[in-house]
Amino acid sequence: MTSSRRVLLRTHGCQMNVHDSEKIVNLLRHDGWQATDALDAADLLIVNTCSIRDKAEHRLYSDLGALRAWKQASPGRLLGVGGCVAQQQGDNLLRRFPQVDFVFGTHNLRWVPTMIEAASRGTRAALTCESSGSERFDLPDRHPHLEPATPGRAFVTVMEGCDLFCSFCIVPLTRGREASRPAAAILHEAAGLAARGVREITLLGQTVNAYGRHDLRRGGVEGTLGFAALLAQLDAIPGLERIRYTSPHPSFFDDALIRAHAELPALCPHVHLPLQSGSDAVLGRMRRRYRADEYRRLVERLREARPDLALTTDLIVGFPGETDRDFEATLALVREVRFVDAYTFKYSPRPGTAAARAPDPLPAAVLEERLEALQQLLRELTLAAHRARVGDTTVVLVEGQSRRGGHQGMGRDPYHRVVNFPVTGESDPGPGELLALRIVEATPHSLIGERLPSVRGALGALTGVPGHADERSWGSVSGP
Ligand code: 5AD
Ligand code: SF4
Repeated sequence: MTSSRRVLLRTHGCQMNVHDSEKIVNLLRHDGWQATDALDAADLLIVNTCSIRDKAEHRLYSDLGALRAWKQASPGRLLGVGGCVAQQQGDNLLRRFPQVDFVFGTHNLRWVPTMIEAASRGTRAALTCESSGSERFDLPDRHPHLEPATPGRAFVTVMEGCDLFCSFCIVPLTRGREASRPAAAILHEAAGLAARGVREITLLGQTVNAYGRHDLRRGGVEGTLGFAALLAQLDAIPGLERIRYTSPHPSFFDDALIRAHAELPALCPHVHLPLQSGSDAVLGRMRRRYRADEYRRLVERLREARPDLALTTDLIVGFPGETDRDFEATLALVREVRFVDAYTFKYSPRPGTAAARAPDPLPAAVLEERLEALQQLLRELTLAAHRARVGDTTVVLVEGQSRRGGHQGMGRDPYHRVVNFPVTGESDPGPGELLALRIVEATPHSLIGERLPSVRGALGALTGVPGHADERSWGSVSGP
């Protein structure tokens, strides 16, 4: 094994893919590989792909075309393709792109080192078999020298796959059946991360709050927990100050999970709660398993538990058969719920999904128009939510330099909003540290904060908000 081999991971798509790429780098580090950001320096390039909309898939094909020259420029370079397109296309990719050396599906991460060894001996292969159980989570612990993508924050997978088959969605075909990771492994990983200075974890799963439901129903797996019980155990880990989860499905909020938002100090007051549409007719054809009123009621209950809860969502415009009235129902519900932000998508038919067979897609111009109207509404809501925060005191987990450039740092507050703040010189907090701020300005995309003269001031201003007055949240705040 040579220690000088370098690997570059190119990641498309969702946080699950981002985290899978981290897991692959982790595996390869155990084998002596080093990660690099520079394509020219890489001996191995792995593209971790996304197929949620057709745009992402087509981008991959053009990237692979361009990579032919990269491979030819230096003999011995290897090119691997993983993720959702790999899962679906399998050895088609090997046939179509001779420059690709190996293809691995979403359940086959642990075979990547073996496939690399085979490829370096000239054996091209595609592996896309689905694993039925939790062995897909069976990977070595994080390599001690592997930095999380953002210092102080880490993803932790709790479940994978999806059994819901919404009619527009390709995920059940690319990520396979729902399986939950054993609670003991999750708690062990989270405690290890906290011991290494990670303050915030984001629990990942395609329907993350369905965690444990199949195992609980089977009644057999020892140590099985439901999602709320898992959160409570994570909340008790010393040093873990913030817990987030993404993405939940509205159907899996039980009383215990709603109560967790009132009771668990580390659980952040933000939920990303995919809505997709505000029309019952469209929700029905999407097979989303809730009506608009049920979603409304869930929002009310969450806000009763946690009045300052920030909600964000996913929305699709132009689903087949969506009428002007259906779309207006979406606008009305978005306005009523007052989402702080949303990911908005034009419907994109995906091969193999039920909705892809629907006749008469809507004209592209209608999709464009509706997307623009929805985004306009969301811009108003985001700005209004940001303006309402001016004067508040908050705490950010520092991520690094602001995208706005200049002498500004950037962090996220408990509501997951970006807050920029001035950096002044030597006493600046580094990435991964907590910093108390007062919000002084709202912009369309972020907030601007000034550093507080004292941490105590921040604590005083926040007393009374559940979860914020907890001493743990303040033990390590860095003041100027
Ligand atoms: N077309 C458009 N958007 C989609 N999403 C999933 N499938 C499609 C599709 N075929 C969106 C949904 C989902 C998010 C991750 O991507 O809003 O919540
Ligand atoms: Fe896709 Fe629906 Fe499963 Fe979410 S719940 S991953 S939208 S099928």
